[in-house]
Amino acid sequence: MIKILILLTLVSVSQCIQYNETESIQLAAYSLSSYCNSDNLSPYNCGKICERSGELSDVQFMNDYEQNLFGYIGYQPQKNQILVVFRGSILSDKKNVLIDLDILKINYQFCENCKISKGFFNAYQKLKSQANQLIQEYKQRYNDAQIVATGHSLGAALASLFVVDVFETLNYQVNYMYTFGSPRVGNQHFADYFNQILSPDVNFRVFKGKDSIARFPSSSLGYNHFGQGVYYDEQDNYIFCQNEFDANCNQYYFWQLNFADHQKYVKCTFSQFRGDQMCTGSKNQNM
Ligand SMILES: *[C@@H]1O[C@H](CO)[C@@H](O)[C@H](O)[C@H]1NC(C)=O
Repeated sequence: MIKILILLTLVSVSQCIQYNETESIQLAAYSLSSYCNSDNLSPYNCGKICERSGELSDVQFMNDYEQNLFGYIGYQPQKNQILVVFRGSILSDKKNVLIDLDILKINYQFCENCKISKGFFNAYQKLKSQANQLIQEYKQRYNDAQIVATGHSLGAALASLFVVDVFETLNYQVNYMYTFGSPRVGNQHFADYFNQILSPDVNFRVFKGKDSIARFPSSSLGYNHFGQGVYYDEQDNYIFCQNEFDANCNQYYFWQLNFADHQKYVKCTFSQFRGDQMCTGSKNQNM
């Protein structure tokens, strides 16, 4: 009897979680290509990273020069998808690091008792009008296409705020999202609300090993995760987390956490691929 119950539980879990690792690797590469020089993204031709992600046409950018924020949107023809990608923090950029550290919470307008990080909120506000304008334009042009969002680090937080924003202000439903090394964005009310807008069945929060940013800001400061946690160990084997405190997904003490793992995602090392020598699209081969 117990065995049958366990079996039933396993079947029902596996039915709702449709994590696709091939796709995860591709989306990690799209997230990564956002760190390349934008000359290599439109047309989408950034060397190894772009080969890994797959093609993308009709790419346009979102830019904020004040806080040095960046994202792009493009059309994936094989999958008939509009892909929305936000770039993470550039560590050498003090303005970017200050966004990540601005963890004071402010009220979030779309739901009661929801609070989110002031830094992420303000950063998204800088890109919001461009993001709204572009998504409307792409929705008109590719009206039966799915919308898929992705991003690494700060880019994961911005992608999440994009999902909520376009749902609330434009009535667009993002079909699914994969994030990589996402920090916590808001409080438990916000996390619950987020899970209603985008079900954890289609929202994969991929994080790896000792990644410190994926555990930041601490839940003791009133921050909580949303989405389905997908934990990769140091050997790149993955498991689904029961919740954000699942011991199997948190095998390390906080003093063991590091930044190196924040740069490694899904068989793909962000730090290794980052930088111009890997972004060898035709336009900056001589850089
Ligand atoms: C997983 O994603 C890949 C790449 O997009 C796709 O070719 C494949 O059909 C997907 N697998 C499933 C089971 O959906």
